[in-house]
Amino acid sequence: MDHGSFPGVRPRRLRTTPAMRRMVAETRLDPAELILPAFVREGVSEPVPIASMPGVVQHTLDTLRKAAAEAVAAGVGGIMLFGVPEDAKKDAVGTPGTDPDGILQVALRDVRAEVGDDLVIMSDLCLDEHTDHGHCGVLDAQGRVDNDATLERYAQMARAQADAGAHTVGPSGMMDGQVRVIREALDGAGHQDVSILAYTAKYSSAFYGPFRQAVGSSLQGGRKTYQQDPANAREALRELSLDVAEGADMVMVKPALPYLDILCQIADASQVPVAAYQISGEYAMVEAAANGWIERDRAIMETLTSVRRAGADMILTYWATEVAGWLRGGR
Ligand code: PBG
Repeated sequence: MDHGSFPGVRPRRLRTTPAMRRMVAETRLDPAELILPAFVREGVSEPVPIASMPGVVQHTLDTLRKAAAEAVAAGVGGIMLFGVPEDAKKDAVGTPGTDPDGILQVALRDVRAEVGDDLVIMSDLCLDEHTDHGHCGVLDAQGRVDNDATLERYAQMARAQADAGAHTVGPSGMMDGQVRVIREALDGAGHQDVSILAYTAKYSSAFYGPFRQAVGSSLQGGRKTYQQDPANAREALRELSLDVAEGADMVMVKPALPYLDILCQIADASQVPVAAYQISGEYAMVEAAANGWIERDRAIMETLTSVRRAGADMILTYWATEVAGWLRGGR
C-alpha cells in the first residue's frame, strides 16, 4: 500500500459510520424541491396505466385531485400537469389547449380547488398534447412547424392556464421567443404574479418515448428542427441568456441524467433557479432494470442525488411523492 508521504491521511475515516457519512454529505434531497409531473386524461372513469411507465397512470380528474393531495401530505414542492384530450377534440391548432373547458384547464381548476397554494401548480404550455399531428406548434403550408404562428397560440394558452389557476406555466415547445410572448400575454391579462419555468435546454431525445405513449401522441417524424441536438453544449448557454432576458423566472434542463454536464454549466451561469426534468425514459430504464438487475430504491436515490449534485435546485420526477415519503422517514 502506498499512502504517499502522509501515511496518516485516510479519506476513508469520513466514511466509517452512517452518522459520519450523513454529517459530511455535501448533497441532500428535500421533498420541497421535488416536482411531480402528472397526466390527466379526458373521458375516462378509471385511471389508465401507462405500460412503459409502471406505477404511472393517466389520471381521471378525481384521482388527480387525490394525487395532488398526497403530494402535499408528503411535502412535495410542486406538480406539473399534462392534459390528454379526447382524440376527437384534437385538431391542427390544438384547440383543447386554449378552450377554458379543455381538460388541462379543468384539471388546473380542480387541483387549485383541492390544494390551493400548498403546492406550486404548474402546467405544460405546449401544443403537442392537443394537436392531431402531435407537433409542439402549428404547421405551415409545407408541413413545417411555424415558429411565429405558434407563438400566438402559446400566448392564448398562457392566458387560459393562468385564468384556470396555474401558479407557473412551463413552456416546453422550444420555439424562439416563446418566453417573451408568454410574459407579455400574462401581464396583459393581469397575471403579473404567474411565473414562467422555461424549458431552456430541451434536447431532442430518444428518452421521451414513454411520455409520447403517456399523452397518446400522434407524432410522425421528430422534433429535431426545434429541440436541441444532443451533440451541442454551447447553445444551451445561448438559450439560457435568451430565456432570462425574455423574462424566465426559472429555467430547466431536460432530460436530466444524460445531460449532467449541461446542467452543471447552466447552474453555474444562471442567476435564476434551475430545474432538471428526470424524464419518462429515465424512469422507465430504472423501473425495467429493477426487475432484479439493480436495487430499485437505491438507484432512484442515486440518480436524484446526482442530478442535485450537478446543480439542480428543483427536480421534476415521477417518483416525487414516493421519494418525499422516504425522505420524511429519514432515508
Ligand atoms: C412536450 C413535452 C415532452 C415532455 C414534456 N413536455 C415531450 C416531447 O418533447 O416530446 C417529455 C416528458 C417526459 O418524457 O417525461 N409537451
